[in-house]
Amino acid sequence: MHYGADYNPEQWPEEIWPDDVARMREAGVTMVSLGIFSWARIQPREGEFDFAWLDRVIDLLHEGGIAVDLATATASPPPWASAAYPELLPQDENGSVYWPGSRQQFAPSSPVYRRLAGELVTAIAARYAQHPAVVMWHVNNEYGCHLNMDYSDAARDAFRRWLADRYGDIDALNVAWGTNFWAQRYQAFDEVFPPRKAPYSLNPGQVLDYHRFTSDMLLECYLMERDLIRAAGATQPITTNFMGAFKPANYEQWAPHLDLISDDCYPDPNDPESFRAAAFQRDLVRSFKPDVPWYLMEQATNALNWRPSNAPKAPGQMAALSAQAIGRGADGILFFQWRQSRAGAEKFHSAMLPHAGTDTRTWREVTALGADLAKLPQLPVGGRDARVAIVFDWENWWAVEASDHPMNGLDYVAVVQRWYRALHRRHVQVDLVPAARVDDRYALVIAPLLGLVREEDAAALTSFVGGGGHLLAGPYTDVVDEADRFRVGGFLTQLGEAFGVRLEDFGALVAPDAPSSTPGEREARFGGAAIIESVGTLLAEEIHVTDAAVEASFIGGRRDGDPALTVRRTGDGTARYLATVPDERGVQAVVDHVLADAGVEPVVAGLPEHIEAARRGSLLTLVNHGGAAAEPVEVPVTGTDAITGETVERVRLGAYDWAFVLSADEGR
Ligand code: GLA
Repeated sequence: MHYGADYNPEQWPEEIWPDDVARMREAGVTMVSLGIFSWARIQPREGEFDFAWLDRVIDLLHEGGIAVDLATATASPPPWASAAYPELLPQDENGSVYWPGSRQQFAPSSPVYRRLAGELVTAIAARYAQHPAVVMWHVNNEYGCHLNMDYSDAARDAFRRWLADRYGDIDALNVAWGTNFWAQRYQAFDEVFPPRKAPYSLNPGQVLDYHRFTSDMLLECYLMERDLIRAAGATQPITTNFMGAFKPANYEQWAPHLDLISDDCYPDPNDPESFRAAAFQRDLVRSFKPDVPWYLMEQATNALNWRPSNAPKAPGQMAALSAQAIGRGADGILFFQWRQSRAGAEKFHSAMLPHAGTDTRTWREVTALGADLAKLPQLPVGGRDARVAIVFDWENWWAVEASDHPMNGLDYVAVVQRWYRALHRRHVQVDLVPAARVDDRYALVIAPLLGLVREEDAAALTSFVGGGGHLLAGPYTDVVDEADRFRVGGFLTQLGEAFGVRLEDFGALVAPDAPSSTPGEREARFGGAAIIESVGTLLAEEIHVTDAAVEASFIGGRRDGDPALTVRRTGDGTARYLATVPDERGVQAVVDHVLADAGVEPVVAGLPEHIEAARRGSLLTLVNHGGAAAEPVEVPVTGTDAITGETVERVRLGAYDWAFVLSADEGR
């Protein structure tokens, strides 16, 4: 278990460094991420490197027993680079340049940026590949974080090459993008531009490919650096820090190229439910590489600087969220950053060592957590405990949030998280995977908004149901192909048979959605028969049952009396189609219904909703996220406390308390 932070020693006089190391030891720090924003210090001019200071700080850390996650420093090019090569600066869709003065001002596809970054990484890797302090490599930093999409001329040229590679000849692109529409037919790849600002709606195939291209350009930067590090003979694991469900980068495709997944996560203390969003993020990153523990590479000890209102974390909340991450697979708990900055845009951002010093709540909580984590034994990897999966798919995210849909402005992650929250409230362990990774390990699979269905997705879901699995999907399922075109033959062309349903129309609802009948009217019509009573949101699709039973119907509105939820049973399996996105209450009711049908048990039964329970092999993690207002809870659970080694029969959880219990039967 690693404990530590980003360390930015170049922001401090060298006399402070020994004190840093001493304090790190006091706090239980075992590893720091070093040099993330050090390019200007390491390379003051092109062709000139200054490693003397970095040698000294790495040696100092090593002597102090602190391991180094060494960054490649390419995340923020120095001023000389943009002055000499302005063509490396990125641009937005209007052609406005992102100027220097902040960070991340580089076009990922810029040949000159890549050359300069490559030279820097080559020099760093040559110098430190064999250094005993270096235990991990931290490539760049949060690729794409501020600069989601680049539309520069470098991007234009790279996009043309990327398209030529993907399609081979221009006619294949014309077919994929449907360019006979609006006279968009291309004669050559050199006629294609990025989807820059245009008079009206852009070609959806072009926009979808631009998402793929953007993710690929960022990934190419990562791969270039990774290969240079390896070429220098480095054998340590290589990572780059993810940001959970981050739209510009398709991490599902990136994950195989990382030795271990690391993730940055900043739940908002102003939001009492943000712990569920944090749990979602942990489960997503664990699901990328279930057989390898991941690292929480950055979180805040306390307040941030970048939200409109930056509330402090409540006493104990930082440790509770750290315990949550470990319970959901993390083997590293790290922060941004070690020592709070004196200057710069992040000087109000909390750190392990606050500007106000060591007589602070933050410091006491930081050292207490460090001491606890130091007592942990080697934890099981876990990663394959979930019997429920939610389908999460970047290409669907990109496609469904594009313009010109029945329901514009739809928020893909918000819909997926509505389903996740309902499972989390029931203490059910969940993986988040693309459809093609669904297999018979799962009893229940929920696929919200799976509009873009590839053949392998349809094959995996069909065989899952055929093998006795329980599938719940819809609305807006199986609508388009990989190029965002309708398939011939209507909708649900691949999965309609499995659901026993035909989809005729989408039936967008006007927001805000409101019930169109009173409880009295519903009672009069349906008595006690309704299993779900909730307001549909976003869509109320017109579906026709061809070979399924109706489990719930729309009441009121234009679909009054029509099927809302259907089920087709085949052997032990079920395929349910839901023609709307129910509100929070309705999603909970549907989840309860399908969990019961699929026979899925909670990690721990009978817990209140603010108590979190997570399973990691033989490790059970319990966390009370309820805050000071919530009643303490006693949970009967037998095993060994992973920190004290004592036998436990029950745990008592006050506000933000947490417990790690190793089950006796499965051993440690
Ligand atoms: C990101 C960055 C860090 C820092 C933090 C602040 O995660 O990677 O460098 O800016 O945000 O929250």
